Amino acid sequence: MNISIIGAGAIGSAIARNLSKAGIAATIANSRGPESLAELHAELPNIRPVAIDEAAKADVVFLAVQWSRIPDAVRSLPAWNGRIVIDANNALEVPSFKAVDLGGRASSLVLADLLPGARVVKAFNHLGAALLQSDPRSEGGRRVLFYSGDDADAKKTIGRLIDQLGFAGVDLGTLDGGGRLAQFPGGPLPVLNLVKFG
Ligand SMILES: NC(=O)c1ccc[n+]([C@@H]2O[C@H](COP(=O)([O-])OP(=O)(O)OC[C@H]3O[C@@H](n4cnc5c(N)ncnc54)[C@H](OP(=O)(O)O)[C@@H]3O)[C@@H](O)[C@H]2O)c1
Repeated sequence: MNISIIGAGAIGSAIARNLSKAGIAATIANSRGPESLAELHAELPNIRPVAIDEAAKADVVFLAVQWSRIPDAVRSLPAWNGRIVIDANNALEVPSFKAVDLGGRASSLVLADLLPGARVVKAFNHLGAALLQSDPRSEGGRRVLFYSGDDADAKKTIGRLIDQLGFAGVDLGTLDGGGRLAQFPGGPLPVLNLVKFG
């Protein structure tokens, strides 16, 4: 299974650090091209900067881009053909941090409409980047990451990846159910720093 990250800012880099620390190789892309990610590559040699089209071909693609820029980022990507996209995004306007009007829909369902054929799993969005990239082993347990999705196999894959990274995954159900619980703003779970024992 190959893994990529689209978006190399605070959250994309935090995810890259998690993967790298766990010894998992991945590719990463931003809007400015691979050369602009030389510093990150020097820090994380097993995270290879690539063009966004190449990143989008991975079996599992983390998407971590400012909400308003996502349509541009994904518009010209190759067909998804069932590949998994992890929605690490929050529907916020930047820099005002006002909630985006989603017409009452779950943010991941709005995103899924932009990614026809992708199996979307919402995860890696509920903690700030600094906490997300810190050691997942905490207080004698493992930090909790939530995940939600409508495809059982895709969720299993991401649940296993979350475990491999050293976190405790908690399956919240569907995008419309669990996804709403974990979405920010609006859901009750974001910013909760929970630890699972055992
Ligand atoms: N920051 C947090 O603590 C946090 C926590 C949870 C969730 N989130 C969510 O994670 C997402 C990313 O947030 P962030 O804080 O990481 O933002 P950020 O630091 O501003 O980084 C955004 C990244 O998206 C890339 N990007 C923008 N437009 C693109 C395009 N057209 N094609 C490819 N890449 C593009 C940017 O590349 P360039 O720099 O090259 O333009 C940059 O690498 C947001 O949805 C946010 O709500 C953030």
